[in-house]
Amino acid sequence: MRPESNEFKIARLMEVRSETGDTSTYLFILEAETEFLFEPGQFNMLGLPGLEEAPFSMSSLAEPGNNLFSHTIRHVGNVTNHISRLKPGDRLLLRGPFGRGWPVDNLKGQDILVVAGGIGLAPLRPLLLHCLGNREELDRFILIYGARTPDDMIFRHDLLSWQDSGFMKTIFCVDRLENGHGTSLHIREGLVTSFLGELDLDPLRTRTYVCGPEIMMRFVARTLLRDGHARNRIYVTMERRMRCGTAHCGHCQIGPKFVCQDGPVFEYGDIARFSDVLL
Ligand SMILES: Cc1cc2nc3c(=O)[nH]c(=O)nc-3n(C[C@H](O)[C@H](O)[C@H](O)COP(=O)(O)OP(=O)(O)OC[C@H]3O[C@@H](n4cnc5c(N)ncnc54)[C@H](O)[C@@H]3O)c2cc1C
Ligand code: FES
Repeated sequence: MRPESNEFKIARLMEVRSETGDTSTYLFILEAETEFLFEPGQFNMLGLPGLEEAPFSMSSLAEPGNNLFSHTIRHVGNVTNHISRLKPGDRLLLRGPFGRGWPVDNLKGQDILVVAGGIGLAPLRPLLLHCLGNREELDRFILIYGARTPDDMIFRHDLLSWQDSGFMKTIFCVDRLENGHGTSLHIREGLVTSFLGELDLDPLRTRTYVCGPEIMMRFVARTLLRDGHARNRIYVTMERRMRCGTAHCGHCQIGPKFVCQDGPVFEYGDIARFSDVLL
């Protein structure tokens, strides 16, 4: 962790974009800084004076010389509902960036498989953008994104451009598909795991990045392990209640691991052995 990560900073809201009925993307600018650097998969603690803080992954890619960043947030309770009422120009407190993100080293010659469920696409978006920026290094690049219904899918513009990119293979799926979902996305019915078999993956070349409900990550990982993928080539991200964000309070602990500092991204083999996870 960089020493300045734990200091409170002030972020000003620039723009809000609605994604679904209960989820929006917030574009912020960091005041008093000219640059805000972070890695795909890292998170910030966001809060308002007098309110608790909560952790949120960045949903944008950091750019050198730029202090803009975004979070995509589902409104479920105190902090998130307060954030949902912010207007452009309003400010909030931020600590971060924290944690270990998605490993993006040595991509050359790798097949990259990204599997996301629901809001789980938000922490994966910077990874997808990073891979797109380094597309010449990759061999295969596949995204499977599942949601409950087409209306629950976030980042519609991105999904459409990724689908039509000719470079990324995309599979979009929902639990229930009704006629006339009103988008140009090719959406299929089924769980994300039901499409793994048709990909003819090479276990020795494939790195898999997964984010979604724990039960979904469990079935994806177990299907891949059954097909010969190694535990250290599957990465998952864990969600736990957090308070300090700096491995001091113990709120986010899983066995000896602190999700805030050792994670939130873990190699599957490093985290699945603890009894307090569903993996
Ligand atoms: C590393 C990390 C990254 C995250 N990134 C994102 C993100 O990009 N976008 C996003 O929308 N959310 C993200 N979350 C989840 C987000 O932190 C919670 O939704 C937030 O803490 C809810 O705060 P609240 O005060 O609005 O809700 P509260 O009022 O605290 O709770 C509302 C309801 O949600 C339940 N709940 C809240 N947080 C959790 C949790 N972590 N696990 C299980 N149940 C919970 C509560 O039990 C309650 O039922 C992330 C969490 C972690 C740990
Ligand atoms: S949030 Fe305090 S130890 Fe992780």
